[in-house]
Amino acid sequence: MTKVLVATEKPFAKVAVDGIRKEVEAAGFELALLEKYTDKKQLLDAVKDADAIIIRSDIVDAEVFDAAKNLKIVVRAGAGYDNIDLNAATAHKVCAMNTPGQNANAVAELALGLMVYAVRNFFNGTSGTELMGKKLGIHAYGNVGRNVARVAKGFGMDIYAFDAFCPKEVIEKDGVKAVASVEELYSTCDIVSLHIPATAETKNSINYALVNRMPKGGILVNTARKEVINEAELIKLMEERQDLKYIADIMPAANDEFAQKFAGRYFATPKKMGAQTAEANINAGIAAAKQIVGFIKDGNEKFRLNK
Ligand code: 3PG
Repeated sequence: MTKVLVATEKPFAKVAVDGIRKEVEAAGFELALLEKYTDKKQLLDAVKDADAIIIRSDIVDAEVFDAAKNLKIVVRAGAGYDNIDLNAATAHKVCAMNTPGQNANAVAELALGLMVYAVRNFFNGTSGTELMGKKLGIHAYGNVGRNVARVAKGFGMDIYAFDAFCPKEVIEKDGVKAVASVEELYSTCDIVSLHIPATAETKNSINYALVNRMPKGGILVNTARKEVINEAELIKLMEERQDLKYIADIMPAANDEFAQKFAGRYFATPKKMGAQTAEANINAGIAAAKQIVGFIKDGNEKFRLNK
């Protein structure tokens, strides 16, 4: 029988697992669960007889593909797929997919929540500021960026976006001002919200020179990936500029140093929480299950990431 494994170090809500099970069993497949695992060995063991795997930010590298002898498809229930070695997937003749957009609203809501937390001084009882009328810069206008724009409009923010790949007309149709360069975005905006993927080009790209363009009191919000930040340069800049705040849903490698040096100007969630809602889990998890069934039964390769 075709075996679908859900391998999630950070588990889905139970209601999402129930939904995944329904899809998988309706197709006549079997569901196996490996949740909250703490050791890669557990994953290597669990994938041995799996035909398909649903993951979140779980690392699926060549070693995992080597261990998964029956594997035909791996679906990242979520957007960012920097955790899958796509070359290794291709070498092992495994199809890799993601589920774009399915958790975007959840991440966008958290981004705005983090902004409120930052402008209200981490709810420490002192007088803060409001989001209304502030210039928000959306760095990358994909599914999450678009949802951030939609929610930010409700706050009455003045919204700007930069995306090297998204046409200006698409951005402006949403009532968002498209700026011509990433430098302009940072020079213009009081708050910048990051929605770029972690790629060879973007890693370490949020650096001293870029963030230093932000006006006095600038707030950088990262619900994307820690790798896009040049942490050493951001630390240097925040040491020099006492007015800047850094708020992250993805704990920096140098968390201890940030926390110790920038009390009251730095916050990171203990675990990536953007997509950690029942709704996002249901949307992304069930989409992943449907994509697996469609691929195995009908050869549907929509959302395939590798060649
Ligand atoms: C994504 O890329 O979809 C988000 O970062 C969510 O990741 P998660 O599923 O590990 O919470």
